[in-house]
Amino acid sequence: MLSEKLVEEFNEQIKHEFFSANYYLSMAAYCKDQNLDGFANFFIVQAEEERFHAMKFFNFLDEMGSRVVITGYDDPRTDFESMSDVFAAGLEHEQFVTKRIHHLMDIAMDEKSYPAISFLNWFVDEQVEEEATMTDLLEKLKLINNNPNGLFMLDKELSTRTFVSEEA
Ligand code: FEO
Repeated sequence: MLSEKLVEEFNEQIKHEFFSANYYLSMAAYCKDQNLDGFANFFIVQAEEERFHAMKFFNFLDEMGSRVVITGYDDPRTDFESMSDVFAAGLEHEQFVTKRIHHLMDIAMDEKSYPAISFLNWFVDEQVEEEATMTDLLEKLKLINNNPNGLFMLDKELSTRTFVSEEA
């Protein structure tokens, strides 16, 4: 049984995860408009991951006998200056999500809610990976410095990314 506060915060997180999916789809749309389909593919897969995250929260609440409540979210940003700008926005967003996950963990630990702590551990690890991926690509883009050949090569590399459910 989860506390009212945890149920409320977990439902709030479902909203953030679905917003993340939309935000990354918005980035994919910008990449498509720049004719960078590999980058677009990266963000389309990222959006799938975010929906997967949202559903993990949905299923956990349901398993714990708690009520899932789906609410709306704000419009995502739609325009960007460059690929570096896109990934800087992606990294900033992941840093925000990491803060959210740590906030949820703080509450779960305060309440000694062991099921919630165990569930959130997966997200703590996932956020390390999410931030590392965005940082790595941002660093690569800084090196490329808008060189068309470099962008083309990275676009090709990102076109191979596929969604793999991390569920064991
Ligand atoms: Fe659901 Fe990218 O964190």
